[in-house]
Amino acid sequence: MMECFVGAFNGVQVQRKNASFGVGAISKRWFGTTSSSISPVKMTVSSDSAVGERKFAKEQVSTLRVNENGGIWVPQRARPRRNRKSSGLRDMCAENIVTPANFIYPLFVHTKDYNEEIPSMPDCLRHSVESAMKEIGEARSLGVKSVIVFPKIPDELKTNSADECYNPNGLVPRIIEEIKHKYPDMNVWTDVALDPYSDQGHDGMVSQDSSGEDGKYGRVMNDETIEQLCRQAVCQARAGADVVAPSDMMDGRVGAIRDALDSHGFTNVSIVSYTAKYASAYYGPFRDALDSAPRETSLAPRNKKTYQMNPANSREALTEAALDIAEGADMLMVKPGLPYLDIVRLLRENTHLPVSVYHVSGEYAMMKAAAQKGWLDEKETVLETMLCFKRAGADAILTYYAKQAAQWMNE
Ligand code: PBG
Repeated sequence: MMECFVGAFNGVQVQRKNASFGVGAISKRWFGTTSSSISPVKMTVSSDSAVGERKFAKEQVSTLRVNENGGIWVPQRARPRRNRKSSGLRDMCAENIVTPANFIYPLFVHTKDYNEEIPSMPDCLRHSVESAMKEIGEARSLGVKSVIVFPKIPDELKTNSADECYNPNGLVPRIIEEIKHKYPDMNVWTDVALDPYSDQGHDGMVSQDSSGEDGKYGRVMNDETIEQLCRQAVCQARAGADVVAPSDMMDGRVGAIRDALDSHGFTNVSIVSYTAKYASAYYGPFRDALDSAPRETSLAPRNKKTYQMNPANSREALTEAALDIAEGADMLMVKPGLPYLDIVRLLRENTHLPVSVYHVSGEYAMMKAAAQKGWLDEKETVLETMLCFKRAGADAILTYYAKQAAQWMNE
């Protein structure tokens, strides 16, 4: 049995052999009395003004003690509250901190020259290019250093093969060029996936047969889609993208995009892989914003379950992560955010790469709606949520609240 120092009282050190003891045992030694002789708390020790007026009789709480000054004393030596007693100490002991530089700010852009509201995402807009530039400038002046653009493409440009996704004169290349021209220090991220350009509303090309699920649907084709994704990524890199972020969940796309970028001389363009992207109902408002939901007319099912991950699974996220790392991803992403913090932690503990988290549209909509009803304090809830992403292990946070949160942090 180890000798173990258990305390000092009135300058007298007390040694005790057994580390597992009860409070009674400590008190007994400190007081030099038997526990049965410890006097119960006298009800006069705390003044009524300190605890408010009582309309009922006070019971004797026999386990509490009194100290030398006659005050109530719970013989508790370790008191974690001491490190919380002032904002200075709380800040000093904070294990995690979020700064605006951790954020990636997503913006919806369209080809119109005015902005449109998105009913399921209050305070988010489909921006004209001009308005998006203004918004990016404001976010940048608040310390947000990364932005990701999502295009709302007119229906007449959508096809199954989604060829508009690599049009060098398309909306995305245009806005990338503008951003890099005006704010060369801004990190420009792009989404690599076919859905905004697909007349099927899928992230990949759909086969025109019934080779898919249940023998009655078309299949979201993997390798044929990757060919398009490579063209899309190279087109975005040419326009000046710093980071391309494939969100499509096709197998092998990270390696193929890496090779395509490298062979075109874009060895310096990063790939953030949506590693653990789940088939989630939380994406609803985003699909409203871009009118990109799987179409009723699609030959493939109206969900993305044959390529996005099953919310029931976590081990599978490790399989995805191992592949993305082997294929050369620079950073991993988990999506959605709050309901998937366990996955953020899992990837954090199983990779040395930075991990990012996507606080998705449905999560934003829930918080916004509750805030608008006055049911939640928006600022406190949002800032707490950002911190929780950090605590779970995320380095970077993609959130529609990026600019607003940065503003709050700057206050
Ligand atoms: C599409 C894409 C989606 C989101 C980001 N990229 C939607 C989807 O997979 O259906 C959702 C983001 C959000 O909900 O905020 N590749």
